Amino acid sequence: MDNFSFYAPTYFAFGKNSEERAGELVKRFGGSKVLLHFGGGSVVRSGLLERVKKSLDAAEIAWVELGGVKPNPRSGLVYEGIALCRKEGVDFILAVGGGSTIDSAKAIAAGVLYDGDFWDFYEGKPVTKALPVATVLTIAAAGSEGSPDSVITKEEGMIKRGASGEAYRPRFSILNPELTCTLPAYQTACGASDIIAHLYERYLTNSKDVQTTDRMIEALIMAMVEETPKVIADPNDYQARANIMWAGMMAHNNSCGVGRSQDWTSHEIEHELSALYDCAHGAGLAVVMPAVFRYNMKHDPARFAQIAERVWGIKNNGDVEATALAGIEALQKFLISIGMPKNFEELGAQEKDIEYLAHTCCYGDGNGSGRVGGFVSLEEKDVQNIYRLML
Ligand code: NZQ
Ligand code: ZN
Repeated sequence: MDNFSFYAPTYFAFGKNSEERAGELVKRFGGSKVLLHFGGGSVVRSGLLERVKKSLDAAEIAWVELGGVKPNPRSGLVYEGIALCRKEGVDFILAVGGGSTIDSAKAIAAGVLYDGDFWDFYEGKPVTKALPVATVLTIAAAGSEGSPDSVITKEEGMIKRGASGEAYRPRFSILNPELTCTLPAYQTACGASDIIAHLYERYLTNSKDVQTTDRMIEALIMAMVEETPKVIADPNDYQARANIMWAGMMAHNNSCGVGRSQDWTSHEIEHELSALYDCAHGAGLAVVMPAVFRYNMKHDPARFAQIAERVWGIKNNGDVEATALAGIEALQKFLISIGMPKNFEELGAQEKDIEYLAHTCCYGDGNGSGRVGGFVSLEEKDVQNIYRLML
């Protein structure tokens, strides 16, 4: 196991009606004037936003609101949010929604305290200062409710990039599994695919002797494989929703990723797809992961065979590569079974864009290193080959 430091101080309020605690928690964590940030309207339709406002009013917390965050959140609304927070003297940001809303809230939080362009953080500048951010989560997926990360798409050129920093860890996150019952089956499945991807990105490591985190990852993937079909069949299965919601947080607050190198190839390759085609991140990952894993399998067949045996129940008859491949196939079969796409066509991606996608993935808008991936270091040609495996 490698050396590490781990500080994940988010306070979690989990369970039915926990959104009623929003006002109390904002007060406890020092907010006096809140920006309520939300997406395209699901939280208005469900009545959640109204309940959160009531809770803030009851705690005598002032608020202003800014809705309209799109999936794959855009820079334009971030600039708007920064200006609004400065004008209104906002000192706390409460995101009510999914990963896109939370990530937009984080970007605004950093931008308010920064004299330059907030996009600098998405080109590699570490985030050291931000207004406090908290969340009321409505979809188990991105893990942003416990993570120090945010992913934003810059509208000029549709470049999608991430920024990180401890200042981005939410002060508190309210996780009420009931709020996820209104999700369409497709969004639920996209969330499950993303959660599983966050676990694989950490499983694919070059670090040795990492049994504890290996076993944690395996357990979480197994729970996802058990629970996801239950909520696809019955969207109101509270206990399955609850298990998935906590798995989504655990998959990405890095409890399972400490002390080991991580991969993130699938995410880097996927971000180009959701930037260009505006597809759901989890759907993109369902197409990307099997291709990346098949391409990289020979780097360490034993690692892929281990997860094949332990998670997917594949019998190892001594042929490690065959076992490894059977595990990748089992993963893809599972993703297809919950309604995820399996190739470029089903995702809405096009073969003619492969060179552009691979180039942007490796070089961004000019500041990329030309290489991608922590498990295997890939160059532009490899990334093109991986996109071709998705045709
Ligand atoms: O906008 P509204 O109307 O709220 O609708 C949303 C949106 O259309 C809808 N939705 C959310 N909760 C709902 C609901 N509909 C009905 N009932 C509910 N309870 O679902 C759609 C997707 O929402 P979004 O916030 O985009 O989903 P998700 O949480 O999957 O976030 C995806 C974004 O997170 C980024 C992705 O790249 C993508 O941009 N990621 C962020 C990470 C992080 N910050 O740590 C890590 C991830 O790897 C990921 O890259
Ligand atoms: Zn993800």
